[in-house]
Amino acid sequence: ARVDKAGHKHFMAKEIAEQPSVLGDANAHYLTETGINFPDELPDFKEINQLTLVACGTAFYACLTAKYWFERLARIPVEVDIASEFRYREPPVAPKTAALFVSQSGETADTLAALRYCEGKADKILSVVNVPESSIARESDCALPILAGTEIGVASTKAFLCQLNVLLLLAIRAAEDRGTRTPEQLANIRNEMRSLPGLINQALEAAPAMKKTAKRLSAATDVLFLGRGLMYPMAMEGALKLKEISYIHAEGYASGELKHGPIALVDKKTPVVVLAPKDSLFDKTISNMQEVIARSGKVVLVTDSQGASMIGSEAADLIVMPDVPEILSPLLYAIPAQLLAYYTAVAKGTDVDQPRNLAKSVTVE
Ligand code: G6P
Repeated sequence: ARVDKAGHKHFMAKEIAEQPSVLGDANAHYLTETGINFPDELPDFKEINQLTLVACGTAFYACLTAKYWFERLARIPVEVDIASEFRYREPPVAPKTAALFVSQSGETADTLAALRYCEGKADKILSVVNVPESSIARESDCALPILAGTEIGVASTKAFLCQLNVLLLLAIRAAEDRGTRTPEQLANIRNEMRSLPGLINQALEAAPAMKKTAKRLSAATDVLFLGRGLMYPMAMEGALKLKEISYIHAEGYASGELKHGPIALVDKKTPVVVLAPKDSLFDKTISNMQEVIARSGKVVLVTDSQGASMIGSEAADLIVMPDVPEILSPLLYAIPAQLLAYYTAVAKGTDVDQPRNLAKSVTVE
């Protein structure tokens, strides 16, 4: 079927807006009454001692997020790497390793080469893809479709969200296999996942606030994104989205690293986007935010209603997200990361769907 913009100005806007329904449909497939509808070829994670996650670009940030999930829920040691590094490093592959490749297109040359390197070395080769008939899907022992539908915008949005979704489901399955969480705890997380489409809809309603913030970001030459824990990969993804489509230099940093370098960049001209849901690391992130404010940095605080009522007034700009269980926060905070980049690019008048120098799928090295 031909895909059109369905009344939106750009494919990216359409793909952002359709995320609640796309995610709802994906989980109508994956979430059953009592568990997760995964293919039988999936390994028993009790038999796996090491998980290696490999990808490029946005899919790499989905992998970094998944590391936190697999470690926290399933207590599996996880290594994450960029495909172009992994493939030439000739890394040793430990016994009982599952190698997992994440790719929207399923055709990225470096990711495919990394997969082929693992053939005969890893116990299982898994993939998380959007195109089920792609090379990466065909060459893996088990390919899990993210069910995002066709994505046209070069800057990945709904595919990233759906990658996160399948990776979280996989971490839940791994925790079940390994007995690291009780069946009740895992059933709870699965049930909470059912509320995500509604929460994402609410997050999309913060669009007017983000549009205003984006106006200010569009005048900046550099933007910093900060986060801790699950928000650290999201800070990097937010920075990547912004550079890709608005051509503004942006860096994503772990808040705790601020004092080891990036704080030297802070001045009144550099907006600092702080991703800080009221989670277990909130106080730490906020004290980093205050270090930025003390150096005249202009903070854009993205938090929830609890966080906003505690420290929202200290920020130059406030974007309020609905409350969300900590483990699910990446699936919600992906929305402000996308919308800030989108509205900034629109304010600058860049080519949102076809940014200069970039391709949707990189099938040559
Ligand atoms: C290109 C795209 C990125 C994408 C990356 C990986 O660089 O511009 O948006 O994240 O490739 O693509 P894949 O299809 O493997 O997810």
